[in-house]
Amino acid sequence: MIHPETIKKDFPIFAHHPDLIYLDSAATALKPQVVIDAEKEYLEQYSTNIARGVYPLAETATEKCDMTREKIAHFIGAGSADEIIFTSGTTDGINLVALLLETHVSEGDNIITTEMEHHSNFLPWKELAERTKADFRVISLTQTGEIDIERLKQSIDEKTKIVAFSAVSNVLGTINPVQEITALIKNINRDIMVVIDGAQAIAHNTINVTEWDIDFLAFSGHKMFGPTGIGVLYGRKSILNTLAPIIFGGGMVLDSCAEKTLYKEAPYRFEAGTPHIGGIIALGMAIHYIQSLGLENIRKHEQSLTTYALERLEKAFGDAITLLGPKNIAIRGGIISFVMAGVHPHDIAAVLGEHNICVRAGEHCTTPLHRSLGLNATTRISLSIYNTERDIDRLVDVLKEVQTMFR
Ligand code: ALA
Repeated sequence: MIHPETIKKDFPIFAHHPDLIYLDSAATALKPQVVIDAEKEYLEQYSTNIARGVYPLAETATEKCDMTREKIAHFIGAGSADEIIFTSGTTDGINLVALLLETHVSEGDNIITTEMEHHSNFLPWKELAERTKADFRVISLTQTGEIDIERLKQSIDEKTKIVAFSAVSNVLGTINPVQEITALIKNINRDIMVVIDGAQAIAHNTINVTEWDIDFLAFSGHKMFGPTGIGVLYGRKSILNTLAPIIFGGGMVLDSCAEKTLYKEAPYRFEAGTPHIGGIIALGMAIHYIQSLGLENIRKHEQSLTTYALERLEKAFGDAITLLGPKNIAIRGGIISFVMAGVHPHDIAAVLGEHNICVRAGEHCTTPLHRSLGLNATTRISLSIYNTERDIDRLVDVLKEVQTMFR
């Protein structure tokens, strides 16, 4: 069971800002002291490079990074730590896989994504399609904000090379049935690459890449209580070693001379240069922190708080507020985007901000989704382990003030 008032004590930001109501964890999650300490310890006590030095301090740093790789593999149900590539975040991971798969796509092929995607799981595929003269297909959503699976099925043909979609929408909160959709795709053609944007799922829902049978998964450390600037790209081992690296430098080479270069196996062939070592170590601690709470407990807490928030908003504002996303709480994460009649989302966010309530307003890097909904902007709240029903009550109270102010 999650006790948010106790959990708040793990996050030093609440000691600095006792009145803070943080409803923007989809943008970035707050950082617990253990994660801050892990990065600080690296910087203060053994800030050496990895996979190079043979002296004890460098060995400690190397071991901790290797342990984190193992921990991540276990956390997402990967078969081996070799399938874990360190990146700078989800955007970097999806761009990397889009570049790595360029040789798999030719003129006349097609790449499929959906209308709910964040720009980082939309633009890299659109650009890849343009570079290769492939067809770029965007699957529309149902009225309830879910991927239209029937349409997806109809869009897949013998020229489909990649299907990319998110595990959880950063605007609608929709939890997509990744395993079911992947099974549908793989039944049509096993060679179609399935790429999942896991940014909004990783700290909230159990992920198992093996059970899901997906080929790639990208996520960020900072959305799972870790630091910014560190992320992960998971890739299926049997595919990774068939792909040529696209970034070149130190740490990725077995042998090299003017005539020929022999690259290391994955993941090292995709990790040229010195990585964000302190970030990797702190990410390992973030995973440890999530595991100590239990993902199932986290999901239960967020589900109950989401139900509470939806009910309170509906009751307090009725038709004056349009709540986006599925009504069915079983397929919805702790993200609620809404439109309040007659008030611009930026005004709402600014007034909430004056009351120490942090939310996001705008298009949330999902212009295609907002265009399809006929909206310029929405206000978004996103929930996490440190949020309480009192946070929601306070939000509703201030939204009432906003409504009066802009009447
Ligand atoms: N992708 C993050 C969000 O949705 C930044 O806010």
